[in-house]
Amino acid sequence: QAINLADYRPPAFQVDQVDLTVDLADRDTRVVARLTVRRARAGATDLTLDGDPAMRLDGVTIDGEPVAETRLTRVAEQLTIADVPERFVLETVTRIDPVDNTRLEGLYKSGGIFCTQCEAEGFRNITFFPDRPDVMARYRVRIEADASAYPVLLSNGNRVEAGTLDGGRHFAVWEDPFPKPSYLFALVAGDLGRLGDSFTTRLGRPVTLNIWAARADLDKCGHAMASLKRAMAWDEQVYGLEYDLDEYNIVAVGDFNMGAMENKSLNVFNTKYVLASPETATDDDYDHIEGVIAHEYFHNWTGNRVTCRDWFQLSLKEGLTVFRDQQFSADMGSAALKRIDDVRVLRSHQFSEDAGPMAHPVRPSSYIEINNFYTTTVYNKGAEVIRMMHTLLGAEGFRRGIDLYFERHDGQAVTCDDFAAAMADAGGVDLGQFKLWYTQAGTPEVHAEGSYDPGAGRYTLTLTQRVPDTPGQTGKAPMHIPVKMALLGPNGQRLDARLAQGEGRADAEGFLLDLREASQQFVFEDVGVRPVASLLRDFSAPVRLTTDQSRDDKLFLLAHDDNAFARWEAGQDLAGDLILGLVADHAAGRALDVDPAFVQAIEQVIADAETDPALVAEIATLPSEVMLGQRMDEVDVDGLFAARQTVRETLGRALAARWQAVYDAASKRLAAGCDAADARQQRRVKNLALGYLGAAGAAGLRLAEAQYDAATTMTDRLAALRVLANADDPARERVLADFYARYEDQPLVIDKWFSIQAVSTRADTVERVAALMDHPAFTLANPNRVRSLVSAFSQLNQVRFHDASGQGYRLLADTVLKVDKLNPQIAARLVGPLGRWRRFDATRRSAMRSELERLVAVSDLSKDVYEIASKSLA
Ligand code: ARG
Ligand code: ZN
Repeated sequence: QAINLADYRPPAFQVDQVDLTVDLADRDTRVVARLTVRRARAGATDLTLDGDPAMRLDGVTIDGEPVAETRLTRVAEQLTIADVPERFVLETVTRIDPVDNTRLEGLYKSGGIFCTQCEAEGFRNITFFPDRPDVMARYRVRIEADASAYPVLLSNGNRVEAGTLDGGRHFAVWEDPFPKPSYLFALVAGDLGRLGDSFTTRLGRPVTLNIWAARADLDKCGHAMASLKRAMAWDEQVYGLEYDLDEYNIVAVGDFNMGAMENKSLNVFNTKYVLASPETATDDDYDHIEGVIAHEYFHNWTGNRVTCRDWFQLSLKEGLTVFRDQQFSADMGSAALKRIDDVRVLRSHQFSEDAGPMAHPVRPSSYIEINNFYTTTVYNKGAEVIRMMHTLLGAEGFRRGIDLYFERHDGQAVTCDDFAAAMADAGGVDLGQFKLWYTQAGTPEVHAEGSYDPGAGRYTLTLTQRVPDTPGQTGKAPMHIPVKMALLGPNGQRLDARLAQGEGRADAEGFLLDLREASQQFVFEDVGVRPVASLLRDFSAPVRLTTDQSRDDKLFLLAHDDNAFARWEAGQDLAGDLILGLVADHAAGRALDVDPAFVQAIEQVIADAETDPALVAEIATLPSEVMLGQRMDEVDVDGLFAARQTVRETLGRALAARWQAVYDAASKRLAAGCDAADARQQRRVKNLALGYLGAAGAAGLRLAEAQYDAATTMTDRLAALRVLANADDPARERVLADFYARYEDQPLVIDKWFSIQAVSTRADTVERVAALMDHPAFTLANPNRVRSLVSAFSQLNQVRFHDASGQGYRLLADTVLKVDKLNPQIAARLVGPLGRWRRFDATRRSAMRSELERLVAVSDLSKDVYEIASKSLA
């Protein structure tokens, strides 16, 4: 059942033109497809098309002549037509049922709107087609539908015709001039409201921009529209890339498997990444919307104009486009904060994927179900790989590489090797060893040791690396790891040392070292004082770094490092050391005493709250239990919770007056009215302070209750609700009920209501989650709702999901089986946490394993769930 990269063969037939007629009706949509087909491989005689077994095939003609039944073979997901000519027009008529489509792949209905999702292999649920990205065709699409229920009819490209038909129906014809793979096809029909705008490109092309959504939601589309315009301008400025059609459409639907989809000129979005108002969306939601809108827009070049040859190359478009959206968001706000955020995501999700049974390289070499490989490794580690090329080549070299990539490959379906070759050629660098990042799975471990010789003024840094074994991959070769670093003097000033031995170069912010060997020495001369090394600045490579640095060195970096990321990192590292020390104390039955030096360091940090509130908030946020667990050989679930909680409470109590002062200062500044960017920083630090005050005791809970009631933004209301939802407090049920009643008719806000209860650290959370699954507003059919409750619980709430009773595991496996009947892709995404069983103690391990065994024993399990569950047990 596995598909292997090594088996890739170019297609036997190419399709140059697709003419689709889609006659929309709820249970019986008729699709007529006329394909202009051309033989592409000498000697090929039989044409094989992909097609979902549930599709009814009502007729096949070639050049207008019916094809005899004897020439047709339909087996599983394929239809083969024997003895086809060299060039011909194939016409098929199929009938499908979009209402019954709970998988949300292909053509389906969401809240009265017909929409499509074709990546990766959904087009085959609409019609018979060689459904692979290296078959690129021009599309002409005619849509017919009831005119009153579906006044808006959209597809890719330009609308070239429209009109009315008998029986209250109407039609529209769309033509997309750019050849594209079938996964970029889209169609939408519905009674949609429109927010219109326009953008003029650098070369003067006027582009009509439309965001389509339920009418009641139109007033929440402004931020998405503004984000789109910023993204369009940014791509012109930074990459010289302009939009290439007269129209750009975005449609927001409530039922969507992922975040959004970059269909050519017709993006389909999860409402979560479009709709926002200050009353219903948090500051973070605003950022995520901006990032995803930009991401899908950037795909127009990195993904659509140049696409993937096959799905093993998914990171060619996704890693690159994530990198581009990260760069964009960094430019729109603070680069350091964005980097901190991205590294958090990488560490909490990708590092654990890399350490688990589904570990795979950025370019996987085998899969059973491609939907299972839309992973944080392909996306986020893929983006880190692109970022490292950017670091190695420099911004200008990287831009030359991108230019060369488009010069060579515009209009083609290519590979990650093609991308790396353009970079290597344009940058004049050898990326041979570097390309191991595409093929070797696992997070490299780097260890750093420094020694200083005062007499000689010499500092020697020894870096060693090891790439851990992962399923199916052992004995890996050393990687090419770019290490940004600087040597800091006693006041935090950068020392002008000279790199005398070891590959690397000095730059404006210190040095960029090339670590290539298993162990390598870098010698710096002219170092007049004992330096402290600031290592892996800006997280220049996705590795786990350990060092021989002392607590005092780290305290020094936390206080003085001029690289904001490295400063944050020093704080996280210290907090981690402290908490893990307490976990050991907890296990040994010792009292949990928090190192006063740490409390003092945090006190110093918050003294800066006025000057850099957002960075202070990041630094003072303790690493999550999930991230801390990665540093343990065996995760001590309860010990970690107790230790981290102790540190939180200690910081809350010991610094209560400070937190209160921070809270008051930020509140005052907000009340006085400050600009939007400042306001969100103030809310960030204010709500951090509120969290600590809430952990400190009753006064903080009263403050939270008051903030909840008076809140004018979702950011403030939700932050207060979170504090109370974790507490044993009489106000808790009141505010939860109030929140539900206030936002009952706003699905995205009700998702937050489910999540906040799912991540509560209260001891009764498992029961609460089980009860919420029976709540009238809960449904397994909506992916956002499932994620809001079940994924939040199982992925973010380490202490309660891993309750020693095993109840959390059972709840998850039960849910997987129920969702699998509706939507295998979403079901498979739920399985992940059970696959981490090796990391836990014997009791939990066996409870997790038996749930996985229960899954794989189910006879009609989807291949999606089967792949994850069986690989998790292997
Ligand atoms: N290409 C989309 C994006 O990242 C995601 C589509 C995912 N689809 C899927 N079936 N897994 O922008
Ligand atoms: Zn993408």
